[in-house]
Amino acid sequence: MRIVIVHASKYGSTREIAEFIAEKLGHRGLEAEAQSAGPVPDLEGFGAVVVGSAVYMGHWMPEAVDFVQRNRAVLADRPVWLFSSGPLQLAPGDSALDDPELVPTEIPALIEAVHAREHRIFFGALDPAKLAFKHRALRKLPAARAILPEGDFRNWHSIEAWANDIARALQSPGIAVGSGGR
Ligand SMILES: Cc1cc2nc3c(=O)[nH]c(=O)nc-3n(C[C@H](O)[C@H](O)[C@H](O)COP(=O)(O)O)c2cc1C
Repeated sequence: MRIVIVHASKYGSTREIAEFIAEKLGHRGLEAEAQSAGPVPDLEGFGAVVVGSAVYMGHWMPEAVDFVQRNRAVLADRPVWLFSSGPLQLAPGDSALDDPELVPTEIPALIEAVHAREHRIFFGALDPAKLAFKHRALRKLPAARAILPEGDFRNWHSIEAWANDIARALQSPGIAVGSGGR
């Protein structure tokens, strides 16, 4: 089965998560590739879809939302997983990602629209040197700086474990490839 991991990423860290998931699915014998949500990926030939977005101001990036909405009929007929990259880790060892306030605004409706199997939140990354002017300016505000610490907080172990869960689900007997396989 071919799987596409569609990503929306402003500064690249979410794209790298998508590429990592594709690589790990490949190690489990699945044919997987990462594609940007921007240039309108063609879902023809893909039996399952993972969609991930960076989170800004509590929202998924517009191109990820558009991608899901535009393709909702096709996606609703395939196994779909969603992930969000963000928040940043505020304290060392802080691993709580189950706070409902961390769920981007659009996610409940998107889950419903495509009957997504799961939405997973991963810690993201922030490199101040890469930030666009408006984000750099925002980060100068004391309140913003406190919740936007510099660092790469991506937990590759938990991302790999999730990729393995997806591989297991897709390789379990009885899943229909690319048609209503929930
Ligand atoms: C200006 C700014 C606002 C952000 N707002 C949020 C937010 O509301 N919620 C969240 O979980 N993460 C937020 N983040 C963290 C980003 O989601 C995180 O840095 C993510 O890994 C960026 O992904 P990208 O490199 O693919 O763009 C914000 C980051 C910046 C720079």
